[in-house]
Amino acid sequence: MRSAVPSSTSAELQTAKLGTGEVPWPVEKPSEAELEELLSRVNANGTTGRPGEAGMELMVDTMEPSGQLICGPPPAGPDRAFRLKDCVGQLVRAVRPTPVVRLDFPGIKLHAKLEQHGLVGSVKDRAALWILKSAIERGTIGPGSPVVESSSGNFAIALAVYSRLLGLDFTPVIDPNISPLYESSLRSLCRTVVKVDQRDDTGGFLKTRLATVRNVLQASPGAFWPNQYANVDGMMGHYHLTGAEICSCLPDIDFVFVGVSSAGTIAGISQRLKERFPHAKVIAVDAEGSVIFGGSPKKRHIPGIGSSVVPDLLQHARIDDWVLVREADTVAACRELVERHQLFVGGSSGSVYHAIKQYFGVPRSRRTEPTVLFLCADRGAAYLDTVYDDGWCAKLEEAG
Ligand SMILES: Cc1ncc(COP(=O)(O)O)c(C=O)c1O
Repeated sequence: MRSAVPSSTSAELQTAKLGTGEVPWPVEKPSEAELEELLSRVNANGTTGRPGEAGMELMVDTMEPSGQLICGPPPAGPDRAFRLKDCVGQLVRAVRPTPVVRLDFPGIKLHAKLEQHGLVGSVKDRAALWILKSAIERGTIGPGSPVVESSSGNFAIALAVYSRLLGLDFTPVIDPNISPLYESSLRSLCRTVVKVDQRDDTGGFLKTRLATVRNVLQASPGAFWPNQYANVDGMMGHYHLTGAEICSCLPDIDFVFVGVSSAGTIAGISQRLKERFPHAKVIAVDAEGSVIFGGSPKKRHIPGIGSSVVPDLLQHARIDDWVLVREADTVAACRELVERHQLFVGGSSGSVYHAIKQYFGVPRSRRTEPTVLFLCADRGAAYLDTVYDDGWCAKLEEAG
């Protein structure tokens, strides 16, 4: 169904209007006093990290208040650490709220929040940035620090871009299931990419990737591991950014549907949402074959949603209900989002849309239509060889 993919969707055209300020920016610029306080703390602590490695010296080391990126060798001494903190602060303030578009759906007021319009291009941008920011503020990451993470998906892309902007040396540990688009992006963004090829005792690659991360960390003194499945800073990124945006984009919200993998997104959003709208229901969406909600493990083919381990961050999520979606239903829902709503989005967005159809597909007589919001976690381009490829989908059906 390659032909059904539009080159420019009407929802994306609306973005131009919606992305320019209808939703208030979640993070305020710090005051002069706050900046001064930050400066005095940095001066008191001195420099916290290792000097940048050769080849990284020409990375961006600061951003002007105007938003212009200034490249050049980082200054020596304590100023290096301050510049890093300043630069990550600038990046946080550059996080523009992603647009929310209304979709036509009988019986409910349906809204999609389009994370593909984030600074890097997916729902993982906020988590990656907040994890780096928090580690830089604590001094765990210093100028030029190596960063190592196991990810073949959006989290790796977000870390690669932000690390590059901050002059950090990011090494992703990937596996053969990575999409060709993501692999080539990572190879052009990162000096080193480690690709594992040995399956672990579950038949997957997760354990091999984690063992490899440990080896790379041991070989790189001072290296930082974001550990997306357990790091509460990722969840806090969604609490302060995505969650705050959701709470201010609509006057009231009855349901939010979120796809789950590391559970950082749903944990941060659900905490923020329940503070603002205590009656709102949070519905988690998972893939059949994932074990997050106690299901039996089964081979899965669509990345971004589901997990073969129960993530630590799940304990922080305030979830009212969950829906398990078959991969064939995810494919059909992705294609329906293109044809019916002109949204060209990734697999997990299709899973979430299918869950909404399951919940609200049969219109009931209600006094008022509930307001429903769902996250579209990324764009469809990385799924052209899978979800949007007829041959791949035929094989998926044969595999059952
Ligand atoms: C496309 C997509 N959707 C949903 C998610 C789920 O986000 P989280 O890991 O915060 O649960 C991810 C995470 O990588 C993703 O890449």
